[in-house]
Amino acid sequence: MEGKKIERLAEEALKARSFSYVPYSGFAVGAALLTAQGEIITGCNIENSSYSATNCAERTAIFKAVSEGKKDFAAIAVAGGRAGEMPEDFCPPCGICRQVLSEFCSPDLYVYLIKSEKEIRCCQLKDLLPMAFHLDKD
Ligand code: THU
Repeated sequence: MEGKKIERLAEEALKARSFSYVPYSGFAVGAALLTAQGEIITGCNIENSSYSATNCAERTAIFKAVSEGKKDFAAIAVAGGRAGEMPEDFCPPCGICRQVLSEFCSPDLYVYLIKSEKEIRCCQLKDLLPMAFHLDKD
């Protein structure tokens, strides 16, 4: 993908972190999903006192998009680290988010891990989740 577009996606993922609701972990994650039509849909992590009810940033973005009829994705950017600070490291998606991404995205989906607008690591969904589980669809 073109450099400027990736930087824009990185910026949106970093910005989305400011909406994270993280009173328990203090770890704010932002995600920015790019549709094939060029639209960006963002998400943040939303925690819950019943910890397992927490929703990750990537799933927030995917569920927002799918619930609005958008299911054709080209890339996702993810940024995470201590709330109120720039990320200290790259934050790869957790296993559950990889599985949810693989439900809706091609194995070729670009996944950009964001430390800052300028420190970006690129991989693809198939690198993060080889031999993904799928059921046949009706
Ligand atoms: N988290 C995400 O938002 N995305 C991931 O892929 C990994 C983990 C969130 C969940 C929880 O709110 C916090 O990070 C610490 O696990």
